[in-house]
Amino acid sequence: MTTYPLPLAKDFEDKINNKNTHLITLRNRAGMQIALTDYGARLVSALVPDKYGNLIDVVLGFDSIKGYVNAQEQYHGATIGRFCNRIAAGKFCIDDQEFTLALNNGPNSLHGGKEGFHTKVWDRQVSFKKLVDFYYVSADGEEGFPGELKTSVSYELSNENEIIIKFRATTNATTIINLTNHAYFNLNGEGNGDVLNHIVQINSDEFVPINDQQIPEGGVMPVEGTAFDFREPKSIAQDFEAKEEQLINGTGYDHCFVNKQPLSQAAAHAYSKDSGICLEVFTTEPGLQFYTGNFLADDQGKSGHKYLRYGGFCFEAQHYPDSPNQKDFPTVLLKPGEVFQSEIRYKFSIKKEA
Ligand code: BGC
Repeated sequence: MTTYPLPLAKDFEDKINNKNTHLITLRNRAGMQIALTDYGARLVSALVPDKYGNLIDVVLGFDSIKGYVNAQEQYHGATIGRFCNRIAAGKFCIDDQEFTLALNNGPNSLHGGKEGFHTKVWDRQVSFKKLVDFYYVSADGEEGFPGELKTSVSYELSNENEIIIKFRATTNATTIINLTNHAYFNLNGEGNGDVLNHIVQINSDEFVPINDQQIPEGGVMPVEGTAFDFREPKSIAQDFEAKEEQLINGTGYDHCFVNKQPLSQAAAHAYSKDSGICLEVFTTEPGLQFYTGNFLADDQGKSGHKYLRYGGFCFEAQHYPDSPNQKDFPTVLLKPGEVFQSEIRYKFSIKKEA
């Protein structure tokens, strides 16, 4: 059996842009453990009990800061900002003023630009070994976004095996904001094959269709009668090969589902029969990007195994992609005097066999 130790703190003691980096670990009364780093305010590991009582690490990632810095996939476990997902042509307007972002995903801007929040070393404060607050002040004009943005992200590990992530931000000039967490999960353990056998349920009637550059074409589309209907649990593999335009445009599932569930009801869950581990996601956000790791290449992860295509999936709670340019989508504007707040909860449990 593979054992999954937490990474060593000393391998996270490094320096990026003159700021020291660290590993922080939290453990709850049920024995679950998580590791976080201030480099990108990211989730490094989550050791969760499987149905045999073994702790397995269900989060993809690396065992050192260097691993994260040198990875092809830059977003493992990170806080994504200022604007997660894509902005068409890297352009948007606020009050008739046009702003231009760097293009880092073909002709579009992705995940906050070339040096998004995932590349920053955040300040940190640890409370009662249960809660970590990360802070970052993004300067006016950073990556082309207007306004100085003061951001905090807190991670708490509850005794109910939940990772509770709370985002907060304020600005001194009207700006746009869309924050998420980009953890890749494999409920059979990171590096342990692909996730296509996972059973997924997404409580959404609609999703945001995208063109072949993964930009919304306008509006939302019913899941009914498509491969995107996850209202009843089914394996990811079940409709994965369907010859549907949306699956082709996303190179698999890489779409934002409309979330109408309140924070108290799961927006989605995933489950592995092999490990028995179930992950439910709860959020305040109107969208949930379900991404099946279609562009994972061959980074070598914590277990020493390669992270191949479909080796992990993400449940990224967020506002819809390209919202600033889509007038029917919920607003992503943040104005001076307002406080942006959002929450994501990843809750782990063992599912009893039916
Ligand atoms: C996006 C993918 C992208 C990936 C990069 C996801 O949030 O939806 O299209 O390739 O992030 O990590």
